[in-house]
Amino acid sequence: MHVDLYERIWMWGATAIIVVFLISIGVTTFSQAFVPPSHIETIDPDEVRSHSEFGEPGVTIHADGSATVVVQAIMYAFLPREIHVPRGQPVTFRIATPDLIHGFQIAQTNGNAMVVPGYVTQFTTVFEEAGEYLIVCNEYCGIGHHNMFGTLIVEENPSAITGAER
Ligand code: CUA
Repeated sequence: MHVDLYERIWMWGATAIIVVFLISIGVTTFSQAFVPPSHIETIDPDEVRSHSEFGEPGVTIHADGSATVVVQAIMYAFLPREIHVPRGQPVTFRIATPDLIHGFQIAQTNGNAMVVPGYVTQFTTVFEEAGEYLIVCNEYCGIGHHNMFGTLIVEENPSAITGAER
């Protein structure tokens, strides 16, 4: 069967692209595994409330200006209810739940994660604009789901943040 030269070029090109895609899927599957877009850190849901870290949710400002926010997501609130973080600095959220699946979405930002019992949800982001942001639960978690919200305040002046707030 005669196949035109240009047709052959396209066929080989398309085949090469498919092979590259399959190889990249295979490599990432076996080298990086299938994991949630977070780190794998487990926690016993029954111990969240009394946990040395999650039992005392709050904000820690580090010497380099970055912040770590420890959050308990419970039916039906985020603790602390009001979170103050610095503007323009890396803010790492660490979230755990003692009950069931919640969402943690900081409206108007790229901060959005699932909180799954048994795991610590962690992500880091930078807030470029000071102001008040709404945190909402975006996973249906029961009769009080629509009341599950919190407040994030991004401070222009980091010295306004006074350590751990509940
Ligand atoms: Cu928590 Cu919906």
